[in-house]
Amino acid sequence: MNVSEMAWLPAIGFGTADLAGPAERIVLEAISAGHRLIDTARVYGSEEGVGLAAEEAVRRGIVRREELFLETKLAPDRHGYHEALRDFEEALERMRTDYLDMFMLHWPVARGSEDDYREKNVAAWQALTELKEKGKARHIGVCNFLERHLLQLTDAGLPLPEVNQLELHPGFQQRGLVRFCRERGMAIEAWSPMGRGILKTPQFEAVAARYGKDVGQLALRWSIQKGFVPLTRSSDPEHIAHNLEIFDFEIGPQDTEALDALNTNTDHQDIWSYKRQQMY
Ligand SMILES: NC(=O)c1ccc[n+]([C@@H]2O[C@H](COP(=O)([O-])OP(=O)(O)OC[C@H]3O[C@@H](n4cnc5c(N)ncnc54)[C@H](OP(=O)(O)O)[C@@H]3O)[C@@H](O)[C@H]2O)c1
Repeated sequence: MNVSEMAWLPAIGFGTADLAGPAERIVLEAISAGHRLIDTARVYGSEEGVGLAAEEAVRRGIVRREELFLETKLAPDRHGYHEALRDFEEALERMRTDYLDMFMLHWPVARGSEDDYREKNVAAWQALTELKEKGKARHIGVCNFLERHLLQLTDAGLPLPEVNQLELHPGFQQRGLVRFCRERGMAIEAWSPMGRGILKTPQFEAVAARYGKDVGQLALRWSIQKGFVPLTRSSDPEHIAHNLEIFDFEIGPQDTEALDALNTNTDHQDIWSYKRQQMY
């Protein structure tokens, strides 16, 4: 149940954006409930809390370190070879571990690097491939990379990332990019899988209820059936537990079609929007 199409990657993850303060308590709750993949990033401010929670979970005998899959991301303004290596070492310290299960580039085009982002991405990616070769990062990936950003890495003679972590939910399906990654053997993690509230309608509440589930679980199940690894975030213990109860039902073809039809390919349009990334 807890393995994605890629046997090394858990089938679902727990995200920690906006959880900086309470991260330790909430991540410990998530690990106790059964989560194994924990996603953080320097910019979330939750790496320390994730590290403390992982350490405490191991100390209490809830998991062994090797059963956890801890992933964090290079800060977008630190792309560059030496910056990436330094950021990685600092992340290990903050997360109280001597290896990471996955280290990722967070966004392809950081503010202020519009002119030289290609060179910076290639240099940072070179550093990540070396961290993988040394076994310090067991896996390496990227987030929010569009086709051309991925091809810029291979054009420089570097391997493709193992994972692309993308905003993906029924309202924003990025089908072309997903196909491109799939065809090249990349695994796909889905951020904001809950769809930013678009399923909170009487129609989808009724669909979820037919399966004995809530709309959050329906959104996560849709993501799993698309072959994604959804990253869910919650500070509510009941949601944390419920969000793991998605492996005992299957969304039927008609309901899948109704969910698929919600695609407007509209992202959330903040400063890190895909619209902005598409300009470079
Ligand atoms: N790489 C990137 O650029 C990037 C960008 C954004 C996010 N991410 C990662 O992806 C993770 C997930 O994205 P997200 O934080 O937007 O998460 P999300 O899981 O799509 O949305 C979180 C919201 O959903 C609510 N929720 C959770 N379970 C629910 C349920 N069963 N029923 C109803 N509501 C529920 C939560 O409220 P409660 O607390 O009340 O449960 C919270 O308000 C992030 O935490 C982060 O790790 C990555």
